[in-house]
Amino acid sequence: MLEPLLLRYDPAGVLFTPGGLTPQCLADCGPAILQARDEVLADAQLWEDGVEPEPAKQPLDAGFHYLPNRLLAEIQALHAASEVRRIQATADRLAARCDAVVVLGIGGSSMGARALLEACCHPFYNEVAPPLRGGRPKLYFEGNNVDNDAVQGLIELLAQHRGRWGIVAISKSGGTLETAAVLRILLRELENSLESNRRLADYFVPVTGSGSKLDRLAAAVGCLAEETYRVPDGVGGRFSVLSAVGLLPAALMGLDLEALLGGAVAMNDHFAAAEYGANRVLDFAAVCHQLEALQGCTTRVLSTWGKRLEGFGLWYDQLLSESLGKDERGALPLTVVNTRDLHSRGQQHQEGRRDKLVTNLLVDASAAAPLAIGSSRRNEDGLNELAAKTLPQILAAAAAGTNQAYREARRPTADLHVARLDEHALGQLFQLFMLATVVEGRLLGINPYGQPGVEDYKRNMNAILRKE
Ligand code: PA5
Repeated sequence: MLEPLLLRYDPAGVLFTPGGLTPQCLADCGPAILQARDEVLADAQLWEDGVEPEPAKQPLDAGFHYLPNRLLAEIQALHAASEVRRIQATADRLAARCDAVVVLGIGGSSMGARALLEACCHPFYNEVAPPLRGGRPKLYFEGNNVDNDAVQGLIELLAQHRGRWGIVAISKSGGTLETAAVLRILLRELENSLESNRRLADYFVPVTGSGSKLDRLAAAVGCLAEETYRVPDGVGGRFSVLSAVGLLPAALMGLDLEALLGGAVAMNDHFAAAEYGANRVLDFAAVCHQLEALQGCTTRVLSTWGKRLEGFGLWYDQLLSESLGKDERGALPLTVVNTRDLHSRGQQHQEGRRDKLVTNLLVDASAAAPLAIGSSRRNEDGLNELAAKTLPQILAAAAAGTNQAYREARRPTADLHVARLDEHALGQLFQLFMLATVVEGRLLGINPYGQPGVEDYKRNMNAILRKE
């Protein structure tokens, strides 16, 4: 039985001519997109069966696809010994010892966790009193840049939590300089802040590839092998949010890991079974692909409405950029937060170059009770006639008004509705965008895995540092 989907994709705003797509354009894409789905499903099966892919397919990091299915099945089979339960236990132990935890990582080793915090936790998570964040520790993200002042500032802040803070260090390769440098600095601070009867290893959890430098460092610190978590083989950094990379920080936030994984499994089932035309993954990928191919829409604006999905949008920025930005091709992603960015980028989107597809990410139900404007005896602002309107109603009117304006200017928009923001919905969203990205890669003949272009700056940076 398929679980209900919390996502609804509505591409009506791209269906116009000239400048948009006709229903025929979408129908024309059917055979190719179905073939791409078959290839993606076959790739995932190849990976599950442990079959060596042919050279033209390498790298084939299709392990992300059935990872949520495997982790959920493992919970049922192994209970407390399953990876998810062990992650939860480790996170609970760290949460009991710490008032604040620094999550170190960059790119795929950071952005998914950040997206989860913004979407599923209190909007002022670190500022509110502990009960409003479920008694969980404050979370800070570092090792995602090389910023002296930011790290100094964080050290000053952590001094306020003397002996009650910890580190989760996430790096698949275990050698990324940005993360490794800040880890070394913060480990020193942490060791100095602990009483002599405390073990550094009790305040430090690594997530890394087996045998990496970080793995060896963790062993030297005294971290237990069973509390050193792995980024599974065949799961690339930007596809790793539903492995320990995202699950451990999510468990620290007190999120429901089974609901998160269950959402991804529901999207996998939907992707494999639903017809083109009623398949969120295929329909989204086809609209993006056809608008780029036929109308030159090479900029993908992911327009998030409200503040809670910006982190998700930035996670998708990386996913799309590193997966398809190859061979001098691939669309340019741009995350905007509306209505904020209507007052900055809106002009460009309304009247600038005709190279954009705007996908609105709309949350249908706010987590908190709707706030009304209310009437006031001081009506100088003229808002009494809107007194009964709530903030969600104003946001919905802004989204509808923006779509209308774009439509009148023949600018394509599509809507992706999320029924509510919770772990299950985020699991579906992550999996939808990961699957759509690999489908599009197969459609374009671009290998969506690997990111060879990122290596060049690292090589240069290391060479410069080591010869100085
Ligand atoms: O998608 C990717 O593989 C990259 O963005 C990595 O996540 C990023 O470079 C960090 O690498 P690592 O986890 O090895 O430190």
